[in-house]
Amino acid sequence: MNIVIVYSHPSQNSYTYQILEQLKKALLQKAWSVEVSDLYAMNFKSDMTEQEYDREAFAKVDLPVAHDVLEEHKKIQRADCIIFLYPVWWSDCPAKLKGWFDRVYTVGFAYKQSGRLPGMKIVKYGVALCTAGYPNDVLKEMGIAQSMETVMLDDRFGKRFEHKEMIILGGTLNPAELKQSHTDQISELVRKIERLNW
Ligand SMILES: Cc1cc2nc3c(=O)[nH]c(=O)nc-3n(C[C@H](O)[C@H](O)[C@H](O)COP(=O)(O)O)c2cc1C
Repeated sequence: MNIVIVYSHPSQNSYTYQILEQLKKALLQKAWSVEVSDLYAMNFKSDMTEQEYDREAFAKVDLPVAHDVLEEHKKIQRADCIIFLYPVWWSDCPAKLKGWFDRVYTVGFAYKQSGRLPGMKIVKYGVALCTAGYPNDVLKEMGIAQSMETVMLDDRFGKRFEHKEMIILGGTLNPAELKQSHTDQISELVRKIERLNW
């Protein structure tokens, strides 16, 4: 089993980093292969160049795809499961991760170019795993949990993933109260990955 974690947080002193460590430990205990794209540590470039814009906007598929983007494509093609782990910032993922979608989801790979199917495989399981300051019930009352789910699962994951879900680890402003519940949700996620019919 090959798991890719696309991780987006700038600080190792963060709660999100603690979740990353916990998640990696639990996945490695199953003897699965775990590959992490640590976007800040890699200094992943999140803004498009003019040439990249031209390629995407006008489907100029003969223009080259950047090396760092091709490396991400290879990770996707190797993955059975991709987990996007990030903090909620202004009701979405950090700009660094948004830029990953902008640049990595190239035309011809993640979406169709006329008359041809996209090259990206259908990944068995996709998970958007995010930490959030607001508790989950507040995010639901505000409609933000639903909007984040629509954008991540319906649009960014779309039909590119066979199974998909969003897990919001909310209430991180009072982590002591919710830490156990978050730990349990990570364990449950690992069990779910194990239970999928591979
Ligand atoms: C720039 C910024 C924007 C944030 N926006 C939101 C938000 O829109 N909704 C929310 O629930 N929490 C928000 N938070 C809180 C983070 O989601 C929370 O700090 C994070 O999930 C867990 O903390 P960590 O940074 O220690 O990993 C924001 C935090 C920062 C730094």
